[in-house]
Amino acid sequence: MTLQADGVTLRLGAVQVLKDVSLQLAAGTVTALVGPNGAGKSSLLRVLSGEIASRQVFMDSRPLAEVGIRDLARRRSVMTQSTSMAFDFLVAEVLAMGWVGGARELGAVALNEVARDCLVDHLLERRFNTLSGGKRQRVQFARCRLQIWRRNDSGPGSRYLLLDEPTSSLDLDHELLVLRQARRVSAENVGVLVVLHDLNQAARFADQVALLANGAMVASGPPEAVLTSTTLSRVYRTAVCVERHPRLGRLVIHTE
Ligand SMILES: Nc1ncnc2c1ncn2[C@@H]1O[C@H](COP(=O)(O)OP(=O)(O)OP(=O)(O)O)[C@@H](O)[C@H]1O
Ligand SMILES: [Mg+2]
Repeated sequence: MTLQADGVTLRLGAVQVLKDVSLQLAAGTVTALVGPNGAGKSSLLRVLSGEIASRQVFMDSRPLAEVGIRDLARRRSVMTQSTSMAFDFLVAEVLAMGWVGGARELGAVALNEVARDCLVDHLLERRFNTLSGGKRQRVQFARCRLQIWRRNDSGPGSRYLLLDEPTSSLDLDHELLVLRQARRVSAENVGVLVVLHDLNQAARFADQVALLANGAMVASGPPEAVLTSTTLSRVYRTAVCVERHPRLGRLVIHTE
């Protein structure tokens, strides 16, 4: 059960955005996609989501282009880098846009459960566009969770949650909340892809890290294998130090 890019090459205008990029997201795991600005992370996410059509993307071994739009909506949700909305919706209405699961009563149950989990239940009657950037981001995260919500992982086919920098506006506390939620969702057999700039959080929360630079996959695999000081110093063109925290036991990554 995977969502897979198999040698994706993408050109947008004059720019060679992705060069022969392969990445496999397994259901039940978290993959962190990292790399410098302009590396192609958002573009790869758009290809994996089906927003940019590619014949080199497969969902459970089937070409993504052959998966019907309804099935796709129920099986993968996407949080983009921009959280703004053109119209003046209530938070409850923004969340409800995420419900594609059919039955209204079940939708209300799911909406309330997800809103509680994401700590946005007290915001439901607020106007989305009047919220702070961080609160808007949490609402969008909740909307994405709701879109692929299932009771007890029932229903056919694997599911995927694709998150483009979901914590970029969040304080420390809410950053942890969202990343813990992402892990929790993966434990419900969802494949999670999360674009992050914070390499410490990538090392901490991901089963697999994929490092993209200049449109090419530099390395992918367990955090310890990918996030090395040699590789990171080269890719980010700055001296990067990777150590193991003596008490917490996890990787700590910092610049010199
Ligand atoms: N529609 C487009 N037309 C032309 N070039 C594009 C288009 N979209 C993206 N690009 C280019 O593709 C490259 C990768 O962009 P992308 O947004 O995928 O990077 P990113 O890794 O997500 O960066 P960031 O960390 O800044 O979000 C950039 O050079 C960008 O300018
Ligand atoms: Mg991006």
